[in-house]
Amino acid sequence: MNIHWEESMKIGVPAIDEQHEELILQFEKLSKAVIEGGGIEGIGKLLSYLKEYAANHFSDEDNLMVLYKYPGIEEQRKQHAIFKENIDKLTDMLIRDVPTREIAIKIDATLIRYFINHVRNLDAKIADFIKPQTV
Ligand SMILES: [Fe+2]
Ligand SMILES: [Fe+2]
Repeated sequence: MNIHWEESMKIGVPAIDEQHEELILQFEKLSKAVIEGGGIEGIGKLLSYLKEYAANHFSDEDNLMVLYKYPGIEEQRKQHAIFKENIDKLTDMLIRDVPTREIAIKIDATLIRYFINHVRNLDAKIADFIKPQTV
């Protein structure tokens, strides 16, 4: 999958947009490394970076939602938890098996597409909710 950060993915909260951009860039690297049959060491490093960065990002979003009393917080938390689980599942899979095209496809489906949908649908709603309160 050819994933790139696109301006249209911006939700309008600069600190969050920056984090989304970095996450998508790292996904791109991960996907490439798996498709090119990169060594488990490099892939492992990318995955642990992603895991940590995503956890920090989710916690920043959570703080923002708490601060503004965002009503959709539970749905966000649920989605963030699923995403974290999927990173763990993929990490286990990559430790067990050699990187294959099937795993790359799984990464595309469960991490990248999921993340982009999440940004476009759910995170954008947080921005819509808090923006009127910040002007
Ligand atoms: Fe996000
Ligand atoms: Fe989110």
